[in-house]
Amino acid sequence: MKKALVCGAGGFIGCHLVKKLKKEGYWVRSVDIKPHEWSPKAADEFLLLDLRIEENCRAALKVDGGTFDEVYQLAADMGGMGFIHSAETEIMHNSALVNIYMTDLAARMGVPRYFFSSSVCVYRDMKPGEPEMSEDQAIPAHPDNEYGWEKLYSERIAMAYERRYGMQVRIARFQNCYGPEGTYGRTGKSSCCNVSQSSGSRKWRHH
Ligand SMILES: NC(=O)c1ccc[n+]([C@@H]2O[C@H](COP(=O)([O-])OP(=O)(O)OC[C@H]3O[C@@H](n4cnc5c(N)ncnc54)[C@H](O)[C@@H]3O)[C@@H](O)[C@H]2O)c1
Repeated sequence: MKKALVCGAGGFIGCHLVKKLKKEGYWVRSVDIKPHEWSPKAADEFLLLDLRIEENCRAALKVDGGTFDEVYQLAADMGGMGFIHSAETEIMHNSALVNIYMTDLAARMGVPRYFFSSSVCVYRDMKPGEPEMSEDQAIPAHPDNEYGWEKLYSERIAMAYERRYGMQVRIARFQNCYGPEGTYGRTGKSSCCNVSQSSGSRKWRHH
């Protein structure tokens, strides 16, 4: 049976991902600094851990003397657009630490497949009516908030570790995901994301 680790599973997207992986037959460990409000028992195992601490990341990744087949890193200091602008230093400190430790340890501990949840905030601000940008146009970079810069930096960490350690990396740049059991209220169902293979040109879009 394949084993998956979902970091940030106390949150909105992470918890839906846990349920999807369970349906697909995975054994799933979820990790967060808080349990999920409505579905705290969705995974086979839940560990309450602060992933800004390196040793906690190691504990999250260790299973049965080995590690996981797949790691999904969704933990981030998130609070909606208001928070993004008022808590720049928290975002740059907290989310960067989680990503630095998780990516480094996952690669060193031999995780074969690693997913990182990025954001469309990595793109520069667009003018109304401008044509849609391609993934590559995130560089040269000019995100209009520090949340976007942290995501861009963490994407680059993941890609650097893929080059050095051969860990397969997948990155999704989510945009406005919300729906049932959301962190900021239970609303309608809609999601949009752009997932790319880190070192190739394959692209998936979900609206
Ligand atoms: N929802 C969106 O529209 C959207 C858009 C773009 C990107 N994203 C990204 O997708 C991911 C998931 O987003 P979400 O909407 O589910 O957010 P969310 O806030 O519901 O979930 C994030 C989870 O990370 C956890 N977390 C934060 N700091 C942690 C730490 N130090 N240790 C352990 N856990 C920690 C939080 O407790 C929370 O449960 C995030 O990385 C976010 O930046 C989401």
